[in-house]
Amino acid sequence: MSDSEFSDKKILHSWRKNAAPWIRAIDGTTIASRKLVTDAAIVAAVTALKPASVLDIGCGEGWLARKLTSHEIDVCGIDAVAELVAAARRQSGPREIYRQLSYAELSGGALPLRFDVLVCNFSLLGRESVNALFAATRGLLNPGGHLVVQTLHPLETCGEATYRDGWRAGSWAGFSEDFSDPAPWYFRTVGSWVTLLTENGMQLAALREPLHPETGRPASLILSGTVGG
Ligand SMILES: C[S@@+](CC[C@H](N)C(=O)[O-])C[C@H]1O[C@@H](n2cnc3c(N)ncnc32)[C@H](O)[C@@H]1O
Repeated sequence: MSDSEFSDKKILHSWRKNAAPWIRAIDGTTIASRKLVTDAAIVAAVTALKPASVLDIGCGEGWLARKLTSHEIDVCGIDAVAELVAAARRQSGPREIYRQLSYAELSGGALPLRFDVLVCNFSLLGRESVNALFAATRGLLNPGGHLVVQTLHPLETCGEATYRDGWRAGSWAGFSEDFSDPAPWYFRTVGSWVTLLTENGMQLAALREPLHPETGRPASLILSGTVGG
């Protein structure tokens, strides 16, 4: 196994370990930038496409899937972490289904369904796992479908390091002390995100940079790619 594959594995190890504090953090709406900006931004980006069906990839405890069903959308959520999938199922309604699947399993064809929109909300953290997922998106989308990705804005997260793709050390700074063992994550430049779309047969349909109302800085980057009709 390469160092990079090992880092990809550590991401899931960390989410398994931190599932309980994550559920508490989301239930308590404790992440200020989500409450102020990014939750509404991703809901608006998805609902603007007027999908009948959405696949929420790396759905966590399911807040986004639940929210989208209130817009009369059928949603399937997948996540590799059993505790998070169980939490999502506990609160689920008739328009929601959840499957415990890793991105590798999803990319390998474990979900024989197609959707109008695939959404990834702050859930694309690795390298190989994410590359494989992008390669599989066309097979998961209906004609004319979209992949919508919200991620931390690369210019905000780059810090003092060189503005170049690469693994970065993880941190739970700003989260409660209940979190431990942060996993490394794979930094991608804005250009690399766009290339990932286009190299996998998608066209860039929209690029948004929602601003934090207090700092005036970008709170996230939202990319939308389409496979065309
Ligand atoms: C920051 S959380 C975001 C959760 C949710 N999308 C939200 O908006 O609250 C990242 C999620 O991605 C999931 N995840 C990361 N890598 C994954 C992989 N390779 N396979 C499946 N799930 C993964 C984690 O389990 C975690 O639930």
